[in-house]
Amino acid sequence: MNTALTESLYGLFHRRLQKVTGINLPESKGYQLQCAVAALVDSLEQRTPEELLTLLEQRNGQAQARFISSLTNNETRWLRDDSFYAALRTHVIPGLIQKVKRTGKARIFSAACSTGQEPYSVAMLLREHVRQRPLDRVYVDQIELIAGDIDADALSQARLGRYMGLQATRGLPEALRDRYFHLLDDEIQLHDEIRHMVAFVPINLAEGVLPSGQFDLILCRNVLIYFSLNGAQESTAHLAAKLTPDGLLGFGALESCRPHGDSVKLLEIGGYPFFRKRHL
Ligand SMILES: C[S@@+](CC[C@H](N)C(=O)[O-])C[C@H]1O[C@@H](n2cnc3c(N)ncnc32)[C@H](O)[C@@H]1O
Repeated sequence: MNTALTESLYGLFHRRLQKVTGINLPESKGYQLQCAVAALVDSLEQRTPEELLTLLEQRNGQAQARFISSLTNNETRWLRDDSFYAALRTHVIPGLIQKVKRTGKARIFSAACSTGQEPYSVAMLLREHVRQRPLDRVYVDQIELIAGDIDADALSQARLGRYMGLQATRGLPEALRDRYFHLLDDEIQLHDEIRHMVAFVPINLAEGVLPSGQFDLILCRNVLIYFSLNGAQESTAHLAAKLTPDGLLGFGALESCRPHGDSVKLLEIGGYPFFRKRHL
């Protein structure tokens, strides 16, 4: 079976990936696309890459999910970027609690949550807040946390809340591990108390398919760097439109995305850049 891709076939798979996910795979990652196609042709029992491409163009659910899963970079870690989480701890979470006191609810959305470390880090910070201020528990319980990703495999693991190896250790302080996880053979299992704080949903930033309603805090971290400039700008605009007045949008520490127009204002919170939705 010959699964090597001609230049034109490579281009077709590349465009397919970009159309479905927004991901603009750089040339340096060409081998990854070649390997993914070869593996999928084999595992989906197709005879040629052309047959696989036809399946993808027909939006065959299984083929598409496996194609996406093999080409998304799910790298993540607990409390990624100290200054970001410090800003959440000292400014943003207290602000959300004030919002709950005023209106009865607050909503957080983690827009590309990979295997769950990002929303669960936020959930643990909320619980840590309650440890220090038990009277705030009633307000923290009114904060809704929704997390999404395009990769169904990553979402399955996120829902399970079970981690091993580097996934279990990278960035996770011992105190949080001891408090919120238990050992399960060679894995660590997140306690249901934290797991149940997060609702995981499939989303596709490239299609602008986002959970309904508006959010007081949106995290869109370390994903739009993989998109074309236009794609990243469109997704950023969709996200900005989902913010409540005064809602905050945070990107990754090394990202330069910014919503167009003057619907949001750039500001530093605890030394970390966020975009705040203006009142209209
Ligand atoms: C590098 S991880 C970042 C995870 C986490 N936000 C962090 O900063 O640690 C990027 C994630 O974006 C997801 N992703 C890629 N394209 C996406 C899309 N179009 N819609 C939603 N998620 C997407 C990938 O599946 C992957 O899990």
